[in-house]
This record gives sequence, structure tokens and C-alpha cells, in this order.
Amino acid sequence: MKIFLDTAVLDEIRTAASWGILDGVTTNPTLAAKAGRAFQENILAISEIIGERATVSAETVSLEAEAMVREAKLVTSWAPNVIAKIPCTPEGIKAVWQCTKAGIPTNVTLVFNATQGLLAMKAGATYVSPFVGRLDDTGQNGMEVVEQLAQIKRIYGFTTEVLAASIRHPLHVIEAALAGADIATMPFSVLMQIVKHPLTDAGLERFLKDWQTISPELRPF
Ligand code: E4P
Repeated sequence: MKIFLDTAVLDEIRTAASWGILDGVTTNPTLAAKAGRAFQENILAISEIIGERATVSAETVSLEAEAMVREAKLVTSWAPNVIAKIPCTPEGIKAVWQCTKAGIPTNVTLVFNATQGLLAMKAGATYVSPFVGRLDDTGQNGMEVVEQLAQIKRIYGFTTEVLAASIRHPLHVIEAALAGADIATMPFSVLMQIVKHPLTDAGLERFLKDWQTISPELRPF
């Protein structure tokens, strides 16, 4: 499963990129507002940090297909690894289909059930993003949509990648992997949670203490 960071904060992206495990970044207007920089400048900076094998999703904000396509063309012209993020509305699906025909990669966002996701796949989206945490917040099982979309993709051979979004905690990451998600996008805080374990810290402390009991001339470092 690919790992994306759901953030527009450059330091967070730099840290994850330096570990060599970062496959991409998703942003949205809320995250862009928090970054506090010019949108294009920030997307370009992210694009450069993550390198050409990873992608960064930049969201369109118009509500009509024609304008969405215009914005999608613009953001994807900034760098080859920029993906146009388009909301799953009737106009959005229409825009995605136009983008597919024009060779513009898209990430269909704000997907809350498998039928919306199916339409995104049929329109030729590069990624489809079911929002797990926001569904869980309403008392529905968000991961079920990820599972259903992964299954639909398998049955019909769609090339769209299922991107589990709105990930809130480590269990979501494990469940997304087991559900067959191609990608999970997570906040930096969740990435830090999945890399750490208290038993790793305790074990390391003990090893370092015991190492010091070996006399210095018997140690290579
Ligand atoms: C995905 O692309 C979205 O930016 C994101 O995952 C939304 O997450 P949230 O529900 O935590 O805001």
C-alpha cells in the first residue's frame, strides 16, 4: 500500500520524504489555508520535495465542470506530478471525464459511498478518495466503502487507485491495508504514531544501557 501524507506543511513532508517511504501528498483547501503561503508556490515546493515518482493532489474550487477543467489544467501544468483533485458532484464527474479525455490526472474527492466511487472509476479518475473518518463520525463504517471499492476495482479491472482518505488513527491504516486500499493518506501525527511503539523505546533504552557495560576497548563504537 502506498503512503501519502495529508498535509500542506513542508517540514512534515520533508521529514517523511527523508525516510524514503513517502509516495505522495494530498492537500485540500482547508490544509492549504493552514499552510499560509501562496497556493501555487506551496504546491510547487511540495512537488519538488517529493520528487517525480510521487504525486501531490491540488484541489479545484469551482462548482461547474468547465471551470473545474480549467482549474485542473492549470494546477497540473505547474509540475508533472500534480494531480487535480475534483469533488464528487455531477459537475465534478463530468469534469473528470473531460480531464480523462485530455490526459489530465484526477483525484475524485469527498466520496462517501461505493456508488459515487464507481462513477469516479468509470469517468477514468486516477484516484478515488473515500473519506473514512468523516463517515465513522456519522456512525457509519467508513472502511466498508474502501473495501467495496477495492472489490469493485478487482472485479471490473478498473485502473483507478483506491485512496483511503480521512484517516484518523493507526487502526485505520491497518484496516485500509487489509481492505485492499492502493493508498492511505494520513496526517503527519498518524505517520508518527505508526512508526513508534513504547516497547521499541523501552527496548532501545535497555540495549543502550547494557552496551555501556561493555568496556570501551571491546566496542567498535
Ligand atoms: C483527503 O484527500 C482529504 O484531504 C482528507 O483526508 C480529509 O481528512 P479529514 O476528514 O481529516 O479532514
